[in-house]
This record gives sequence, C-alpha cells and structure tokens, in this order.
Amino acid sequence: MAEPIYRFFENHRILEDFRTSAHWLAFRGWSEAAGGNMSVRLELPEDISPGKYQALPLQVPELAGMGLLLTGSGTRAREIGIDPVLHVGLYHIGDDGESFCWLAGNKTPTMELPAHCAIHNQLQQVRPEDKAIVHTHPESLIALCHVPGMNSAKSISDKILHLQSEARLHLPEGVGFIDHQLPGSLELGQLSAKAMSRHHLVLWQYHGLLGSGTSLAHAIDLMEVFEKCAQVYWRLRAAGIDPEGIAVKDIIHTLQAFGQLGRF
Ligand code: 13P
Ligand code: ZN
Repeated sequence: MAEPIYRFFENHRILEDFRTSAHWLAFRGWSEAAGGNMSVRLELPEDISPGKYQALPLQVPELAGMGLLLTGSGTRAREIGIDPVLHVGLYHIGDDGESFCWLAGNKTPTMELPAHCAIHNQLQQVRPEDKAIVHTHPESLIALCHVPGMNSAKSISDKILHLQSEARLHLPEGVGFIDHQLPGSLELGQLSAKAMSRHHLVLWQYHGLLGSGTSLAHAIDLMEVFEKCAQVYWRLRAAGIDPEGIAVKDIIHTLQAFGQLGRF
C-alpha cells in the first residue's frame, strides 16, 4: 500500500535541513520574531489525493505538478528549529500551474509566497539544481542599505564583496539588489525572480536578504559569506576607515586561478 502523504512529509530528510537551518538563523539573530521564511521544491509521490485547490497569485508553469515545502506565516525560526513538522507545510502545485493545495503540516504559507513561487519557477529553468530558497534579515546587510550610494547590485558587489579574499569566489556574479518594495507583494516577487536568475543572493533594500542553493544550508553558506563581508565593512567604518577593498586585478587573478572568471 502507498505511504500516506503525512508520513512522506514527516519522514522526509529535507525537514532536517529546515530544522538545522532555522536553528542557525535563530542562533545568528538574523530571523528576529517571525522574520524570514524558507522553501524547497521537490517531487511528490504519484498517488497523492489532494483536497481543495486555491489560486496562486501568479502563474508558475514550470512548477506544475511539483511539491513545495514552505515555512508557515508567523512561524519563528527558533521554533521551526525545534519542530519543523508543525511549522513547515507541504503543498501540491496544480497541474494547471496556477493553483495550489495543502497536503500536510502547517496550513498558512509565508506571506512571501509570491516571491518563493516566482523564484522557484525561474530557478527550475535557469538553475534547476538550486531547489532551496531562504529569506532572512541579517543586521549588517540591512544597515548597508542606509549608506549613501549603496543602492545598486554593482555598488554593493564591488564595495562589499571585495573586502575578503574568497568572497567573490563564492559569489563570482556578485549580488543582486532590489529597491524597497512592499513586503509580500507580487511586484517584490517578480523583481526577485528576475534578479535571482543572475544571482544566488539578492538584497531587498531596508528589508533583508534572499538566497538560493542546492539546499537550505547551501543558501545560508552564501549568505554568511556576504554578511561576513558586511561585518568587516562596519568594523572598518567604526575605526574611521572607508575601505578601498582588494584591487580588482587581484580579484580577477583569484577567480582565474580557480576557473571562475567567466562568471565575474
Ligand atoms: P512570514 O512570517 O509570513 O514568513 O513573513 C516574514 C517575513 O520576513 C516577510 O518578509
Ligand atoms: Zn522579511
């Protein structure tokens, strides 16, 4: 007999990725209160018996028939880290690519549902190996958005990622940037999907960070690299230094040595 869907959900190894990632976000203080959310797309068993479908805020043809794990709206990272079954929901994206249906776990998807859906739809086409999306609120990166001139992908990538020797190796394309938008809006979601097609990380002005990876842990690795650079920046500024950063020729040399220059 087929495994019931709740057992498929509760026993899925990806819940461990949610558990450890949420714990880490809480431990780092990045996801204050109910800040931040996470999702992973996955294949579902053939024989699911879904209930009532509701309309998605956008069309996601690339996700038709797939499964989506989403953290619940208002859930706290520190509690997801203790009991992911209670705080993460499993959904089926309808075969029409414009509806979804709850299957197991938490029943109230994150308010950033438009962004998670739009980005997964995009990633399925451009980086299918990136199955995980994390959004969180790291302090040093939000603070950067208040510095005059730090208001574009290029200004932030060139200034901040060039403060540590290996940062650009992790993020050769740099990071994306989106001007302040209404949290949870479709517009934020669509702009994010566009920016994420070129970047693994996108900074939401005055709001927080968005990352993709092959796993939630991988997305957080990249976020940590970027946040570390921002911490170096703030430490230097506190010492009265506005850093020049590593010379571009040295960044290029490093990327060349590791075969990553094509992504610069
Ligand atoms: P949710 O609790 O609905 O996921 O919202 C948190 C958040 O950070 C919105 O941007
Ligand atoms: Zn947020």
